[in-house]
Amino acid sequence: MKENDMTEQTALTTEKAKPVLPNAQTVTLVEHYTDTLFRFRVTRPQSLRFRSGEFVMIGLMGDNGKPLLRAYSIASPSWDDELEFYSIKVPNGPLTSRLQNIKVGDQVIIRPKPVGTLVHDALLPGKRVWFFATGTGFAPFASLLRDPDTYEKFDEIIMTHTCREVADLEYGRRLIESLKDDPLIGELVGDKVRYYPTTTREDSPKMGRITTLIENGEVFKDLGIEPLNPDTDRGMVCGSLTFNADIKEILEAAGLDEGSNSMPAQFVIEKAFVG
Ligand code: A2P
Repeated sequence: MKENDMTEQTALTTEKAKPVLPNAQTVTLVEHYTDTLFRFRVTRPQSLRFRSGEFVMIGLMGDNGKPLLRAYSIASPSWDDELEFYSIKVPNGPLTSRLQNIKVGDQVIIRPKPVGTLVHDALLPGKRVWFFATGTGFAPFASLLRDPDTYEKFDEIIMTHTCREVADLEYGRRLIESLKDDPLIGELVGDKVRYYPTTTREDSPKMGRITTLIENGEVFKDLGIEPLNPDTDRGMVCGSLTFNADIKEILEAAGLDEGSNSMPAQFVIEKAFVG
């Protein structure tokens, strides 16, 4: 056998041995923020159309040959060529303990079936929209903040983000900073976005849970605006289950009703997913 033939044969064998993942996409960027937080970008499946704020199932192939999938909010806007995800690293989490080690060029499974309630269709028009996030619950808002519809629908966008420590705010802070210079939506954004980051376990310019800061009126005083009003204010919420429940109570007490895709109203809620 000539050397050339051998090379070809080896190549064929390798090709055959490589598992072909269904719905596999290629990782194009990985950026770690802290020991527990990172973002990554992947190529976008051609068939995937989604509305900003929705989530998809993503994952890796498990050792048993079955895909290990979890729900992840898409953090990139619907016009982006790639998909972005913002993730927590759970030390013993079946998926995130492995996902945190992905590198550029690796493959990630993306099921191209987006769903979710944090979408503009589920909200009635209003003057001001509040995006309430804790931790990685910022992800769907990273998409919505880059969606032209957000700026066409509302005069004012208030992005609140409560995290334990200052470093946990980094992803959101950079995203907010980048909006004005964004070639596609920079002009639309103008001065419409008010960013209100708070921390609960490390000193920062604004401390406290957003729920407390609403209840004691501090957030309205800080921003120089009137308290929540069902005629003008809309809300989108994404955080832990207890956070979502607490905000829901506050919004309902202020007279806002929860909406859905089939019945738009004044606020919508999605759980921040942990894998
Ligand atoms: P805290 O430090 O007081 O618990 P976690 O990492 O546990 O998901 O929390 C992320 C952030 O959300 C933390 O700053 C945490 O504050 C805050 N948080 C957790 N639960 C609630 C809640 N029910 N209402 C308001 N903020 C909350």
